[in-house]
Amino acid sequence: HVLTFEMSLIHAIPQTLFGIFFEDINHAVDGGLYAELIRNGSFEHIFSLEGWALELCEESIEVSVDTSNPIHPNNKNYVRVRSDDPNAEIVLINLGYTASPIRGGIPIKAGEAYNLSFFVRTVGFTGEVSVYLENRRGEKYAESLVRISEQIDDWMRISLELVPKVTFSNSHFVMRIKGQGELHLDMISLIPKNTWHNMRTDLINVLKDLKPGFFRFPGGCLVEGDSLSNAYRWKDTIGPIEERKPNRNLWGYHQSYGIGFYEYLLLAEYLGAEPVPIFNAGISCQVRGAEYCPVDELDEWIQDVLDFLEFANGPTDTYWGSIRAQLGHPETFNVKYIGIGNENWGDQYHERFKLFHTAIKEKYPEVKIVFSGPPSYEGSNFRYAMRWAKENDVEIFDEHIYASPEWLLANTERYDRYDRTGPRIMLGEYAAHAPGRQNNWQAALAEAAFLTGVVRNSDVVIMASYAPLFNRIGFSQWVPDLIWFDSASFFLTPSYFVQKLYADHTGDYLIPSEITNEDLVLIGYRYKAIYHVCTYNSKSNEITVFLVNPWPDDKSVKIQLPENIRTRKEINLIRLCGSLTDINNFDDYAIVPVHEKIISNSCGSFDFIAKGYSFNVLKIGLE
Ligand code: AHR
Repeated sequence: HVLTFEMSLIHAIPQTLFGIFFEDINHAVDGGLYAELIRNGSFEHIFSLEGWALELCEESIEVSVDTSNPIHPNNKNYVRVRSDDPNAEIVLINLGYTASPIRGGIPIKAGEAYNLSFFVRTVGFTGEVSVYLENRRGEKYAESLVRISEQIDDWMRISLELVPKVTFSNSHFVMRIKGQGELHLDMISLIPKNTWHNMRTDLINVLKDLKPGFFRFPGGCLVEGDSLSNAYRWKDTIGPIEERKPNRNLWGYHQSYGIGFYEYLLLAEYLGAEPVPIFNAGISCQVRGAEYCPVDELDEWIQDVLDFLEFANGPTDTYWGSIRAQLGHPETFNVKYIGIGNENWGDQYHERFKLFHTAIKEKYPEVKIVFSGPPSYEGSNFRYAMRWAKENDVEIFDEHIYASPEWLLANTERYDRYDRTGPRIMLGEYAAHAPGRQNNWQAALAEAAFLTGVVRNSDVVIMASYAPLFNRIGFSQWVPDLIWFDSASFFLTPSYFVQKLYADHTGDYLIPSEITNEDLVLIGYRYKAIYHVCTYNSKSNEITVFLVNPWPDDKSVKIQLPENIRTRKEINLIRLCGSLTDINNFDDYAIVPVHEKIISNSCGSFDFIAKGYSFNVLKIGLE
């Protein structure tokens, strides 16, 4: 094979091209990025004592979940302990997110500080509450005691610090209550001191390493709800945690909203990514039998979006702008993109989209509005949606592609055929689903090949993100995923490294390139022998050649340099390579980037071997 390229610029590559899609699926937030270690400390889960074990030490003590006088109407449940005997004891034990005896529980580190807090109220109670972390054998790691002798009429927050002496991955949190009278407890929380806005720093760092150009949130199907009653409403998710209105999400578990819209905006800002919040279009999940908000009642949903834009972008003398300032961010977030709907389609969606569009553009003409594509990226629903989008001057169309590796390899030219006068594309969700939906090298290699077509067509495709992002082992609803984690550690999948190599090395311009290629026809699909794309980075004066060999045999490629250029002698190669079934794991990475140097003769050409099953990034510095 001979690969040639030219030093002319075809089009600029958008800074937004590679991003992150964030959804609370697979416990990405609760039990995940949200660093809260107590599961269901608010007792708001459908099973109000989920996550808790109770040990009643005496019969004269009663425990119930009460709702009669909560901290806030959004946070209805609390625990009521009643005892007639001053020596009676009850023990509340929280197991954290325990998936198995090995993975789960509450991880603690020796010498690190943990903020413990809870709300308490009493009715004639005198006694004590002792709090500690312990292992299965009942050995204590950190302990503190609160004595209560005076009446606490109104809910009062008690805050303490626990500093364990040992490191232990699977501890339990214990609250031992002894005394007489009535004690009410709520919002029991244990969060490591070393977090960023209550988020796990290890997980934030791996997101930062992806250098995301955009950050789409908070879903996904999550936004839609299985009915409109549990659709995602951003106003439920801001303010003091005890006043947020938790919700059971469409993925079947409880969201505390400890990370809500404000934190998402902070995170996008920290990551240097354009926020792309997605709002419900007044339609619940269509795949699960849609509930449509009647058009004449849609104002409330539209107003939510307008209020959000005031919250994110409005001056501090507006109502919502002042709330942003009170939360600690007087500067605007400068949100440039929002999406209306997720995986919606059909006339009912179009009618509602138009109403949102008109109202938003009237007040915020500069904000770009993303239109949702249907779940299937092929077929009549897709064609109808695209036709409507074109006829109605939709700015950005959100496509989701979950396909077999074979499909992705055979469709790298999908965007070559796109009508340049139509909407830009946000490939808001993509992933290869290999047999068994394994996060293996076969899937990642096909994604690497497909992304050559995305980069080549980045005049049309302006955003692309893998989905889903996170998987908490033992608490997942969907595989494959980009990053897997447990209570204390994580591992990165081959797909993560593919996306990171693109994010790190795609230049700011596409340049023309060609390869003498053979087309292979196998089991009905047409493939290429080698997939490639070339970009130029004007800041570092470098050409990047992305080359994918998805076949078992090594392929020799002569890289023919343009006549008028001289390159640096050393060419940097970053390669991902393995067998198709290779996967990464907590302590064993089969697929990791390997760095090599190739010596070229600075002009003319040089030979390169693209190993079997490899993704290669060649960085050619120009003199
Ligand atoms: O990424 C998982 C789900 O896939 C998303 O919630 C949804 O948009 C798609 O169907």
